[in-house]
Amino acid sequence: MATQLFVPNFRVDECLEGIRECLEKGWTGLGFKTVEMEEAWKTYTGLPHAHFLSSNTVGLHLAFHMMKTKYGWGDDAEVITTPLTFVSTNHAIIQAELTPVFADVDQYLCLDPVDVERKITDKTKAIIFVGLGGNVGQYEKVLKLCKDRDIKVVLDAAHMAGTRVDGKHVGHDADVTVFSFQAVKNLATADSGMICFRDKEDDERARKLAWLGINKDTFARTASQGAYKWKYDVEELGFKYHGNSIMAAIGLVSLKYLDRDNAYRRQLADWYLEALEGETLIEPVLVSPGCESSRHLFQVRVAKRDEVLMAMNEHEIYPGVHYRDNTEYRLYNSGAGKCPAAHKASNELISLPMHMGVTKNDVEFIVETLKKVVRTGL
Ligand SMILES: Cc1ncc(COP(=O)(O)O)c(C=O)c1O
Repeated sequence: MATQLFVPNFRVDECLEGIRECLEKGWTGLGFKTVEMEEAWKTYTGLPHAHFLSSNTVGLHLAFHMMKTKYGWGDDAEVITTPLTFVSTNHAIIQAELTPVFADVDQYLCLDPVDVERKITDKTKAIIFVGLGGNVGQYEKVLKLCKDRDIKVVLDAAHMAGTRVDGKHVGHDADVTVFSFQAVKNLATADSGMICFRDKEDDERARKLAWLGINKDTFARTASQGAYKWKYDVEELGFKYHGNSIMAAIGLVSLKYLDRDNAYRRQLADWYLEALEGETLIEPVLVSPGCESSRHLFQVRVAKRDEVLMAMNEHEIYPGVHYRDNTEYRLYNSGAGKCPAAHKASNELISLPMHMGVTKNDVEFIVETLKKVVRTGL
């Protein structure tokens, strides 16, 4: 188990207690625990708004859909994005009928502000920044480029639960930040996420849109007394994207342990870095200065990556790859060849096992094996 890439560490009894509460109350859907989870997340991050959703993927789509309709962007509106991400990031742009424009990544594997600036046109309406592995990279510089030009900022914080910069949780300065609480993320449930808008009106609209556009406000008071519950309004076409109380019950337990777990992840990263010191054939991906990363990932770069991975598997070590350059996929092929740094990284990256079950001995064993594999030329 220790040498698997990700193994969630659910506090089973506490989770079952929370789930039991939902079942006994007869309330497993939206409301009750989802509200508790939203409040707990706001307290933890200091973010002003938070709406609990069924995943980060739906949150990203909701974010782009909302901005497009709010600002009246046309289908030719461009969103600058990274090719080095999970496809949810880029699917969301296409799903909202906007045009993804790929910019290259830097040494942190996050958007490179220099290339972002090159890719900005009159049609650029938004940028989506992915904090890969929990790293903030050069987010501040990208943010400034956007602020100076009134370009909207979406932060795909799928890996960033618990990432802080100068003691402050990430997400405060983006127009919208979307977290993932999927099964192998730092704050694990089974599938869920959180959308955090900066503006109150956006948060209010998101709550309606994530529940099919239903607005209960008009009849809220009467409905709370039992009558006219059915008499809601539907203002615009929405989606069924909201989260449920069972996921929230698990999330509330995971949140309690998030800082402790992330501290251990950072310890694991330090052990990896220590074990790799002086090694020239294995290059660790570093965290940008000032960033206290959630350390969702610990990534290294090697030559002949695919062969290295196969050889590691033979030693019963099962690393992963985050991510394949999205422009290699047929859907995003028109962007191919425009982001050489991302393309190179995509062929070299390995994510080493990173979870609560990995010990210092495991780290040493994994690194020794990796060194042997890269040295013996496989
Ligand atoms: C960078 C990134 N964005 C978005 C997502 C989608 O998250 P979810 O599984 O909660 O939809 C993931 C999940 O792996 C991810 O890694």
